[in-house]
Parts: sequence; structure tokens; C-alpha cells
Amino acid sequence: MAETLTVSKTASKEDKYKSLLPQIEALITGEDDQIANLANISAALKEAFGWLWVGFYLVRDGQQLVLGPFQGPIACTRINYGKGVCGTSWKDGKTIIVPDVEKFPGHIACSSLSRSEIVVPIKDLYGNVTGVLDIDSGELNTFNQTDKKYLEKLVKLI
Ligand code: SME
Repeated sequence: MAETLTVSKTASKEDKYKSLLPQIEALITGEDDQIANLANISAALKEAFGWLWVGFYLVRDGQQLVLGPFQGPIACTRINYGKGVCGTSWKDGKTIIVPDVEKFPGHIACSSLSRSEIVVPIKDLYGNVTGVLDIDSGELNTFNQTDKKYLEKLVKLI
């Protein structure tokens, strides 16, 4: 297993993802403990991109999203189905890009520093959402279709 990441700080966003994804794949291959893998994925994304908050919420008892492994400031522990950006992504089964969190009705502000956000659902083989990858930025308009494309590829590795 690789012990350090090699991702150029000056590379474009697309090139960072292209370099990072195979490294993440190598990092989680051969390890079947989900918590360990989600913890390392959070760390790898935070280290490569420096976003404010990177982490996972996992569906528990089919009722709520419960905070999983993450990197960044402390966060809300439980989110209901259909609530906030995460609960909406779970309900719709779709990635949501929020350019300005203040303009997303029902956004849950875990940190007042968060200004924009992307949430990507994680699905099982039957298409059921089992959790979400949530990334928050301290700046507006951080996430675009490039993030959606590569983060959706990333969650398929999980
Ligand atoms: N903003 C999210 C809640 C999770 S935190 O940002 C870490 C939401 O509205 O679902």
C-alpha cells in the first residue's frame, strides 16, 4: 500500500483527479473494512484539494444519515431523509452541486465557514443509496461538472 500521496499542488483540477483516483483505488484494494477505506478516502481528498470539509454520511436503519469518517471541523451527526443537501441527494439518488449554500433552501449549516458544497450519493449494486460523500468549501462556486464526473467515479470504487 502506498503510504504517501503524490498529487501536484499546481496541477489542474482534472489532472489532480486523474492522478488521485488510481492512488485511492490502490489504497483501498485488499482492504474490506469500509470505515478504514472511507477514512483514508477522506484524508486523501482533503490532502489533495485542501477543501474545508470532506466526509461521509452513512444510511443507518433506512431512516437517517449518520456521520461517518471525515476530515475537517466537527459536524452534525444525524441528517433526516430529504433534509439539507445530503438528505436531498439521498432521496433523489443524484449528485447535487450547490454554488452558494445560502441559496439552497433547507441547507444544514454544520459550519458557518461553508460557502459551497457538492454531495454525491453512494449506491449498492441494486441502486439503493447507502450513504453520501459530502464536500464543503470555504469559497463560493468551488464545484463543477469535473468534480461531479470524478467523484462519481470515486464512489463506485467504494
Ligand atoms: N451542509 C450539509 C450538512 C452536512 S455538513 O455540511 C458537513 C447539508 O445541508 O446536508
